[in-house]
Amino acid sequence: MSARTALITGGTSGIGKATAELLHSRGYRVAVTGQRPEGVAQARAELPEDVLVLQADARSLAETDKVVSEVGARFGSLTTLFLNAGVSRPMTLATADEAAYDEVFSVNTKGQFFTLAKALPLLTDGASVIVTVGIGATRSLTGNSVTAGSHGAFLGMIPTLALELAPRRMRINAISPGFTDTPMTRASLRAQSDDVAAVMAAIAEKNPFGRLGVPADMARTVAFLASDDAAYITGQEIMVAGGAGLAI
Ligand SMILES: NC(=O)c1ccc[n+]([C@@H]2O[C@H](COP(=O)([O-])OP(=O)(O)OC[C@H]3O[C@@H](n4cnc5c(N)ncnc54)[C@H](OP(=O)(O)O)[C@@H]3O)[C@@H](O)[C@H]2O)c1
Repeated sequence: MSARTALITGGTSGIGKATAELLHSRGYRVAVTGQRPEGVAQARAELPEDVLVLQADARSLAETDKVVSEVGARFGSLTTLFLNAGVSRPMTLATADEAAYDEVFSVNTKGQFFTLAKALPLLTDGASVIVTVGIGATRSLTGNSVTAGSHGAFLGMIPTLALELAPRRMRINAISPGFTDTPMTRASLRAQSDDVAAVMAAIAEKNPFGRLGVPADMARTVAFLASDDAAYITGQEIMVAGGAGLAI
């Protein structure tokens, strides 16, 4: 069997970084991308030395071409593609902001789609593609309409993409995290409250399992979907949210 290889976009922080660590510990050769130079430098310092850490803006097709070419030169092919680069820009109808709207759709929807399109020649027959969406795509949260819409747009593509990939036995599935303790979550809560710990405690209290998600919860789900144990699963969304959003 050829070596398992993974490209993780948005792999310098939070869910993507935890997944890079887990897949690496399970013997994968791993490449990650991030956008900010500081985040890329920190990931280079913190991830295992042989993880390839690339700076690339998922909004730029030219930068995505460079990522695909560097990963191809290093690994030859990819058995796993984790499309996880994402941003969240809370806004209500009253605070709607066109530039922020365009940024969100450009990273979360267009960036994911074109990364998959451009990585296709590198993907092996039977490869697994996993996309981070979000429980918000199908559940309500004030101020989340644009981020939710960008994830929902990709979710809407998944059945078609699954059928397009099926002739080569390639699979595509989505994971939908609930509130997860990552730098993104903390930054977004800081913008709403001076007492982030209190807000997080309140969110945990409302969750049926009594806690927020942690990046490792998502990483283990991605590792399952990437593995042969999920070889007959495609076109699905798995919510990883401790039962959040199930109550009526
Ligand atoms: N945390 C949650 O509660 C939650 C819930 C539902 C869905 N999600 C989704 O989960 C995904 C990961 O989020 P996270 O919580 O782990 O956040 P995070 O810690 O902020 O990580 C986001 C990652 O995406 C990268 N990224 C952002 N913009 C990029 C761009 N233009 N080009 C390339 N990379 C870019 C970031 O790199 P830089 O830091 O360099 O920009 C970082 O590596 C996102 O799609 C998010 O919407 C998260």
